[in-house]
Formats: sequence, structure tokens, C-alpha cells
Amino acid sequence: MNRISLIAGNWKMYKNITQAIELVSALKRELFFIETQRFEIVVCPPFTALSEVAELLYESNIELGAQNVHWEKEGAFTGEVSILMLKDLGCKYVIVGHSERRTYFGETDEIINKKLKAVLDEGLSPILCVGESLKQREEGLTFKILEEQIYKDLESINFQKVANLVIAYEPVWAIGTGRTATPQIAQEAQAYIRGLLNRIYSEEISQKIRILYGGSVKPENIKELIKQPDIDGALVGGASLDLDSFSSIIKYAYEVKK
Ligand code: 13P
Repeated sequence: MNRISLIAGNWKMYKNITQAIELVSALKRELFFIETQRFEIVVCPPFTALSEVAELLYESNIELGAQNVHWEKEGAFTGEVSILMLKDLGCKYVIVGHSERRTYFGETDEIINKKLKAVLDEGLSPILCVGESLKQREEGLTFKILEEQIYKDLESINFQKVANLVIAYEPVWAIGTGRTATPQIAQEAQAYIRGLLNRIYSEEISQKIRILYGGSVKPENIKELIKQPDIDGALVGGASLDLDSFSSIIKYAYEVKK
């Protein structure tokens, strides 16, 4: 199955508007040769920079993503942003269920499920993050946790809707720690996730859905990661904030996938 590779940068709560414009302008120059039919690049700036970045990315080979969304279309929800607002800006992707949102902002699988439905209903692509903590891995619970998260997060999302879904396997112990999962560990977990998708939906759908790896991805480790059969790309945090490291990650991955 030929899945289009995808590398997304999650900027988290970094960069003001000026810095965002600077980085995106430079990325456009550096990555102009990447062909979108074979390889997708996505940046997910903070909400405050989405509008300016959207303008810069118009008709470029880089796509726009947001880091979070509310599940209602509109309403009295102070401080929240709806999927229609993100669509209006030209976002194509939305990160949903990042472990930082699960841990620091109390996002449950039920909330994540509502967000996924809202994003898929509007025809955008959620990047659903799943992954175990260090304690859970050490206790041998990795597969159990992944199964729980995937089943609950995707509950009653039918096969027609799920085509746009992207999953990111982000083991919590690898996020921002410099401790990347080995390609074997990531492959094992991601093959397991694909197996779950096969069980829930079908072989065909499980082969279509892209599964990214996230957690301390750097130029030094992207090649070995993306060579794995079930790793279709990466969700990059820290290294996506820097022009050289993010563009190197993309160039190396593109080279492997050519
Ligand atoms: P780091 O690449 O900084 O480890 O962050 C990973 C991440 O959380 C991406 O969503």
C-alpha cells in the first residue's frame, strides 16, 4: 500500500507572529521541491499565528494545521475555537488528543471522541495522538493502553468518515525527553495500532490510514524511523521550531521515501 508520507511540525506554545512568518517563509524557500502528491508537509502554529501563516502558505506545498479544537460549531464557550473557524482559516489538519492535553488539561477519551467526530464531519483531517507513559510501558501495559485509547477515541466513528484520519503514536516517555523510541519499538506499536484498525474497520481501511511516530524526532533518527513499514511520517515537536532541523528531517525522509 502506497501511503503518502506526512511530516507535521507541532509548534506547541512557541513563536510569536513575527517569528512564525520568518520560519514559514524560510521553510517555503528551503522545501519548494517537495512534491505534494508523494509527500505532505504540515505546520501547526499556535492559534495566534494561524491567520498570517495561512496567507503565506496559500498555494504552497506546505499545509496548515491547528493544535486543538472544540467540538461544537459555535456557542458560549469562552476561550475555545471551533472547527468552522479553523476551516475558515484554511486549516486542513487538527491535532487531537495530544498527551499534553490529556495530562494538563484533563482531556478524556470521551472528549477526544467528540472532537474527532467534529473534525471528520467537516471534512478535515484529525491527527489523533495516542501513546503510553513510561510507567505503563514498564508494567507491560503498552498494547492494552493503545487498545483502550483507540477503541474509545474512535467509538461510533464509521468507516466512511474515518478515511481522513491520521494517527500519531507518541509514547509519552519520548516526548521532549530526547529519548526517541527505537525504530523497532515504534514499528511494533504502530503495527499493533494498524492491527486494531483492521479489527475495527477492515484490512483496506487499516492500510489507508497513516500512522506517524512522534517523540524526540530529529534529523539524526528520522531515516531509520521512516524506513519502518508502519511508520508513515512523523509529528515533530522541538525540532520543528528550527529551520535547519525541520527542513533536514523533511529532506531526509523524502530521500528515503523516493
Ligand atoms: P518532541 O519532538 O519535542 O519530543 O515533541 C513531540 C510531540 O509532542 C509532537 O506532538
